[in-house]
Amino acid sequence: MADIDTLLEQPGAGSHGTTARRGLKHVIESQQFTVPLLMELFERSRGMERVVARGGSLDYQNKIMATLFYEPSTRTRFAFEAAMYRLGGRVLSTEQARVFSSAMEGEQVEDSIRIVAGYADVIVIRHHQEGGARRAAEVSPVPVINAGDGEGGQHPTQALLDLYTIYRERPLNGLSVALIGELDKGRTVRSLAYLLAKFERVKIFFVAPPPLQMKPDILEYLDRHGVCYELEAEIDRVVGEVDVVYQTRIRPERVADLPSLRKYAIDSTVLRRMKPSAMILHPLPRTVELDKTVDSDPRAMYFRQAINGLYVRMALLTMLLDKV
Ligand code: CP
Repeated sequence: MADIDTLLEQPGAGSHGTTARRGLKHVIESQQFTVPLLMELFERSRGMERVVARGGSLDYQNKIMATLFYEPSTRTRFAFEAAMYRLGGRVLSTEQARVFSSAMEGEQVEDSIRIVAGYADVIVIRHHQEGGARRAAEVSPVPVINAGDGEGGQHPTQALLDLYTIYRERPLNGLSVALIGELDKGRTVRSLAYLLAKFERVKIFFVAPPPLQMKPDILEYLDRHGVCYELEAEIDRVVGEVDVVYQTRIRPERVADLPSLRKYAIDSTVLRRMKPSAMILHPLPRTVELDKTVDSDPRAMYFRQAINGLYVRMALLTMLLDKV
């Protein structure tokens, strides 16, 4: 078992910590994260890789995390729960809160949160309505983490682990990234676009069928922050020049026909056009947009990305729990 402070490399990054995370009570949207805060989180996440390699820690054994998921999840819920167990803490969980909680009886999220906050030190919520996590945070005396809200909301911890996965491989300044898929309602790509905008000389290509393109709120944010971006309808026009191909699902019901859906898939043909040094990320789950033949390509990073979600969530939990 590891003592976490001894495994964090930066002096002052331990539980009695730095100034970067002051003001971080809840995690609702990516815009909350400054570059210094991201760097502190990522250094802590590297420390958590060492904590897990040594069998976890007991440092948080008096802490309880509640997970309230009103929508299905494999990675996010398991990663948060594994993170809390690896820190020595305990977990209260409902995996389908719309059915297995008093939401079924018509209870509003605010009332559920007021109750659960009395039992837990931190709450992780995935809510089916955009703004659900913010509503939870507004009434919660304990930290609330948004694990995805609604269609077209955000999924900030996914974006944090996405960025950490890139950070482990290459500098974040000067990065060129293609975000592909159902961008208008893609909460992972929305959160990631906000984070990428924090770095210098980043270029983002939004690749989607025109009706599913990235919404104006993100594009206006990028304009305000002087971030270079292009809207594209064809994968072929960008895959050869980007450092990161970030693929996401397109639900079949949102396109007119299956052949047009396949135009946005990554397969061996697309692989041949990519840079040898590029990375392929996907938040998962996948359907036809990411061919299984891609899995054996060394540029495929999506399973590593999901594991990084454990380390980043451990780090995030410690940063929130050390303050309460
Ligand atoms: N990436 C992601 O959010 O996956 P889950 O829906 O399985 O949590």
